Amino acid sequence: MQALEVISRKRDGGEHPAEEIEFLLNGYLRGLIPDYQMAAWLMAVCIRGMTRAETLALTQAMVKSGEVLDLSGIPGVKVDKHSTGGVGDKVTLIGPPLAAACGVKVPKLSGRALAHTGGTLDKLESVPGLTVDLDPDRFIRQVREVGIAVAAQSPQIVPADKLLYALRDVTATVPSVPLIASSVMSKKIAAGADAIVLDVKFGRGAFMPDVASAEDLATEMVLLGEGAGRRTVALVTAMDNPLGRTVGNALEVQEALDALAGMGDEELVQVALVVAREMCWLAEVEADPGDALRSGSGRNKFLQMLIAQGGKIEMGLPRAPVHIEVPSLGDGHVQSIDALEVGLAGLELGVGRKKKQDQVDPAAGIVIEAQVGDRVQLGQSLAVVHARSEELARSVIPRLQNAWKLSANEVKRPPHVLARVDKDGVTRAD
Ligand code: URA
Repeated sequence: MQALEVISRKRDGGEHPAEEIEFLLNGYLRGLIPDYQMAAWLMAVCIRGMTRAETLALTQAMVKSGEVLDLSGIPGVKVDKHSTGGVGDKVTLIGPPLAAACGVKVPKLSGRALAHTGGTLDKLESVPGLTVDLDPDRFIRQVREVGIAVAAQSPQIVPADKLLYALRDVTATVPSVPLIASSVMSKKIAAGADAIVLDVKFGRGAFMPDVASAEDLATEMVLLGEGAGRRTVALVTAMDNPLGRTVGNALEVQEALDALAGMGDEELVQVALVVAREMCWLAEVEADPGDALRSGSGRNKFLQMLIAQGGKIEMGLPRAPVHIEVPSLGDGHVQSIDALEVGLAGLELGVGRKKKQDQVDPAAGIVIEAQVGDRVQLGQSLAVVHARSEELARSVIPRLQNAWKLSANEVKRPPHVLARVDKDGVTRAD
């Protein structure tokens, strides 16, 4: 078999048998197929797409490239949760602890910030002393004893994705349904949980542009999960506006703690509860996450998890030395807040990494003061920038001012959860 032959087949719109996909992936992993041939194939996939059978073969080959975690030492149904990435998306810090407080076992492997989207590992690491590097024994023990652990993926899990993702990132081949679906689901399958709740985001701050493409991606991922014997449910959620009131690592941990204490943004709490309820449903646990929120047991579970991972929450979360307001350029009702622009402003401040070797600034970020639907006046604060220097804070103000779109008319916050996808199909929210 020749790489050239395989690449040409996809270029011409053909379908690969599973062996061709394995040949390409294994050859690439072993250094026999160079980056330029793999990149040519990835671009052909972006343009031509893949059949369901091809996506399944790619996912299986990716899983086989590394180890699969054995979670059989944890009793009960283990439920994982994954978001395709957003701005201000701290749902993992709220929904899974609520589900764990209801009795669901939650072994979760998370990622770092990617492009303008935030990463759960970076958020958790803003807690002094906390580690996300748990070896498999410690990870499994913590899920057994505490009910929840959120850790970094070890290099042994789906090594093919690490290589492919880095190549996709620099060859404009990220936004492809089969490539995203196989990347996410290979990692979820290798992470070993029995069931998976996916939060598939669309809109300005997400990788999927619209609800239809998010439903397609959700459907592919659900079928891949179910095909691998994992019960899988996906929620399709809007990411046009940042989620909740903060964007930034320590800021989002604090917002999650506040939300778990009953002082959360309505939309954020709603999404976290929907996720937690799906996790309970998959685990066949009858308790209601709403009760775990009201009683504070979800917050206790989250604190227990932080402490088990070495977090010294009593030392307080890091705070940026500079706080500067972003004044509104006009009067009106906030119609939208461009999540991409807010995410990019966060990236400038150090919430994520512009280059691989960059360090994140755990205290940096943006606190939203004027939410969608609020009425603002000229000069009123739209947000507060938290930064390590005044110069840096001032540099993002014009971008943030332009992110707020005002309307002369009253505005209602748009619905957030738009659809639910399971093996039987798509159900749209009313
Ligand atoms: N997240 C992933 O893990 N993979 C993708 O391809 C996109 C988002």
